[in-house]
Amino acid sequence: MFARIAGVGGFVPGEPVTNQDLVRRGVDTSDEWIITRTGIRARHLAGPGTLASDLALEASRRALSAAETGADELDLIIVATSTPDCVFPGTSCILQTRLGNRGAMVFDLQAACSGFIYALNVAEKLIRAGSCRKALVVGAEIFSRILDWNDRATCVLFGDGAGAVVLEASEKAGILASVAHADGSYHAILSVPGHISDGKVAGDPFLRMDGQAVFRFAVRALFDVALECCSAAKVSPSDIDWFIPHQANLRIIDSTAKKLGIDSGRIIVTLDAHGNTSAASIPLALDAAVRDGRIRRGQKLLLEGVGGGFTWGAALLEF
Ligand code: ACO
Repeated sequence: MFARIAGVGGFVPGEPVTNQDLVRRGVDTSDEWIITRTGIRARHLAGPGTLASDLALEASRRALSAAETGADELDLIIVATSTPDCVFPGTSCILQTRLGNRGAMVFDLQAACSGFIYALNVAEKLIRAGSCRKALVVGAEIFSRILDWNDRATCVLFGDGAGAVVLEASEKAGILASVAHADGSYHAILSVPGHISDGKVAGDPFLRMDGQAVFRFAVRALFDVALECCSAAKVSPSDIDWFIPHQANLRIIDSTAKKLGIDSGRIIVTLDAHGNTSAASIPLALDAAVRDGRIRRGQKLLLEGVGGGFTWGAALLEF
């Protein structure tokens, strides 16, 4: 028995906000700096009042429609997010009721930018164990709310969005291997350190990052975990049809792909249009390439992510 992707969906809010738009809004940066260092040209930013569950709902409806699955058929919903609607209940519970499902096992998963990979891993294991048959796995983020718009080194990097997949138990091949790791000793290089206490935010409520330390960590972890996942699936990197990495920085993606021997024609890149949407980035990239026809049934895909924690992981699947 495999866990197989039955349908994919994605959603980004509003119109694209270009690098030039950020300059016009007063960020001390330039289109040239952002493109050269990151590859990002635009991102989408949610309007006031929009919450992660709003984005998750749209992406989920599209994934359910692609999978020809009713929300009532789901017995598992996982929402990977670091920007939930509220402290509790989980954004997953809010999504569940808005989709019209009752009774499924439902929870949020917090692994920062690796959240979707972690959630896919957990859903796959629950399906393979026979505990669930149809799962909705969502990455949904509104990072624009946790950015310090006076910190040009971070605010230009991120965007808002959601991506979702429906996973189902299947005798046809699906996820061949999935692996995940963490090392909390690196927590300080990328974090939102604040918390709520006595009715106020205690500590710093904004995303803080040591960009160069993150860069070094990401390149090493993404290469190692890709090899580990390929080995677990008994698939050589040269046999992968599409590489779908976390969309944080084009230089990290290119460096990882080069070390793996994957040429640029086999990499799905959407960060130019979306920026880094954290847990939403991988399913958003997957959705874009499924909808434009590049990814087809039967092809081998390598998905991988890295994020705050630090956390990292990969999944190799036959689509
Ligand atoms: N526009 C213009 N100049 C800027 C900007 C900006 N937006 N941001 C920083 N600078 C300036 C700095 O002030 C500095 O100026 P100075 O030399 O006069 O002091 C100069 O650019 C260089 O700054 P660095 O931080 O050294 O720039 P670096 O080359 O390291 O690039 C970057 C920064 C793009 C963040 C890089 O470190 C990186 O890509 N790191 C990976 C981080 C990442 O991808 N994070 C995403 C989240 S983590 C994840 O998803 C896994």
